[in-house]
Amino acid sequence: MRELIRELVETYGPSGVEDEIRAVIRAEVEDLADEIRVDPLGSLVARKHGGDGGKRVVLAAHMDEIGIMVSYVDEKGFARFTRIGGVYSLNTVGDRVAFSNGTVGVVGVEQKRANATKIPTLDELYLDVGATSREDCPVAVGDSAVFVRPLDIQGTRLIAKAMDDRIGCAVLIETLRRLESTPHDLYFVFTVQEEVGLFGAGTSAYGIDPDVAIAVDVTGNGDTPESYPMAVALGKGPAVKVMDSGMIAHRAVKDVMVQRAKDAGIPYQLEVLARGTTDAMAMQVVRSGVPSGCLSIPCRYVHTPSEMVDERDVENAVCLMLEVLRADL
Ligand code: CO
Ligand code: ZN
Repeated sequence: MRELIRELVETYGPSGVEDEIRAVIRAEVEDLADEIRVDPLGSLVARKHGGDGGKRVVLAAHMDEIGIMVSYVDEKGFARFTRIGGVYSLNTVGDRVAFSNGTVGVVGVEQKRANATKIPTLDELYLDVGATSREDCPVAVGDSAVFVRPLDIQGTRLIAKAMDDRIGCAVLIETLRRLESTPHDLYFVFTVQEEVGLFGAGTSAYGIDPDVAIAVDVTGNGDTPESYPMAVALGKGPAVKVMDSGMIAHRAVKDVMVQRAKDAGIPYQLEVLARGTTDAMAMQVVRSGVPSGCLSIPCRYVHTPSEMVDERDVENAVCLMLEVLRADL
């Protein structure tokens, strides 16, 4: 699974420009699915037929990642930018970003800004792409970039940009690979534009009209120095969402995940996330409502260029998802 994860996290794909990452995922799932299609907003839907009497189930992971978009290029060729999703200046100064055309930019900060001892605002940052004028600048207004970082592996820890949510995509792909049989009609949905408003998940779920929906995404942690109190740690198992700042997980969906984990002896944690939400929030409220839950991968440093997960949690998430899909829902 490491090579799959490497391929997914190192691919370019900010919200709204998911073509490259969609092509990578499509190549992985094409031979495993019974049907495959791209819906109008760009989400990739891979369907696996089940037997009679099963439920229609959506499993969703978002393929977009946070990034920045050029908003202005000055006469010396420096670019100003705005955020795509939750990008924060604290995590950005000195970092490198890459555009789809391969251009790399360094995030600089105005040296003579007001309050130079404070964390700069995004307005006080700029992008240096090596240009000397607006004319020779290789990027233009409206172009999007993502952090540049390779996957690093230290023991059981995996570190990369875009673990949010390529690690969820990896869990879904690996689940589809290992799936032997299921009574359910399964839709593996790789959604677009999660980071800017959960848009792909809502529209895909509306189109599919599922009986049950489960998102796979990252969550926070409570096991780093002076972290917010949260009963989630890396390496202690995937987390079954109970609640986050956008939704209360449907009790039956939460309960079935907990019960299958217990029955199969798979480690798990319960997640109450005070800051953040997932595609499950959007899926839960389409049409007349879809019982929805989320299986979360504990992750440190979410929305920084160095998001860290534990490989054992990823493996156990695949095992638990397979258990959940094996029987009645
Ligand atoms: Co995110
Ligand atoms: Zn996410």
